[in-house]
Amino acid sequence: MAVIVSVDDLKKVYKGGFEALRGVSLSIEEGEILALLGPNGAGKTTLISALCGITTPTGGTATIGGHDIVSDYRAARAMVGLVPQELALEPFEKVINTVRFSRGLFGKPHDAALIERILRQLSLWDKRNNRIRELSGGMKRRVLIAKALCHEPRVLFLDEPTAGVDVELRRDMWQVVEGLKAEGVTIILTTHYIEEAEAIADRIAVINKGEILLVENKADLMARMGRKTLRIDLSGPLDRVPETLRDYDLELAEDGHALKYHYDTRGDGTGITRLLQALAQEGLSLRDIETRQSSLEEIFVGLVHEDTP
Ligand SMILES: Nc1ncnc2c1ncn2[C@@H]1O[C@H](COP(=O)(O)OP(=O)(O)OP(=O)(O)O)[C@@H](O)[C@H]1O
Ligand SMILES: [Mg+2]
Repeated sequence: MAVIVSVDDLKKVYKGGFEALRGVSLSIEEGEILALLGPNGAGKTTLISALCGITTPTGGTATIGGHDIVSDYRAARAMVGLVPQELALEPFEKVINTVRFSRGLFGKPHDAALIERILRQLSLWDKRNNRIRELSGGMKRRVLIAKALCHEPRVLFLDEPTAGVDVELRRDMWQVVEGLKAEGVTIILTTHYIEEAEAIADRIAVINKGEILLVENKADLMARMGRKTLRIDLSGPLDRVPETLRDYDLELAEDGHALKYHYDTRGDGTGITRLLQALAQEGLSLRDIETRQSSLEEIFVGLVHEDTP
């Protein structure tokens, strides 16, 4: 697939000297959904703002559809839609006018059928003549999405689209995002909900303190998550893993007082039964056993924590 967003060593130092992006490189393929995960202050909004031409980077380059975000700013901007993190809507304006007006800002001709389709897709058609201030928080968020879509962008940036949105509406939003993907729109979203990334993303990028720590296919991450560890506490210590057990993926831990067995939960058999039999044959007596699974959340917390001295 073709690369649609290309970010190379992008830097942002805010006035006052704060370094919010420290050389971010990333390439995003046409039609994919990339979830950008990171703690508060990691630089997610700064990255999105730079790519959408709202803030000027202080180093590096980026292109959208081949257009440089600085030197060819207009062409790059025309390709993107942005749903900002902060609600920024005119409270007394009607829903339909808000969306129409946004399309006009991009110099696109009025298209009533398109506006109707977008409002219906976001379940806002019934509210089209309501004023913004008469909407609930989740509906306002959907108006922001409608605004971002009305000039038919090829790349949609969603900065925490489901923050403060109830579970049902969050699932509706996921459907909207998947519908857009089906139409070929590339989507970059930030979220604090790990399950959101799990549910809809094709790839996951983790950012902390202005640096990308990981970019990986969700499927590969899930495969890692499929790995579990069985911890076996032994009654007496071992100085090494016995020869007869060397075919198992075993690791000696806690000064020989425990064995750790790594296995895949999605395989046909975990091998636990055979392992326990082999341990008994070896004459080893067990004090306790415990299993644990590495989740995306753990991978995420581990990465971010490791990165914080
Ligand atoms: N206009 C600004 N001037 C100075 N510093 C800023 C400005 N905007 C953001 N920052 C700083 O840059 C860092 C990154 O902010 P950013 O908004 O990109 O984080 P974020 O990852 O979007 O966080 P959140 O999850 O809270 O939305 C923060 O330390 C923030 O204080
Ligand atoms: Mg943010």
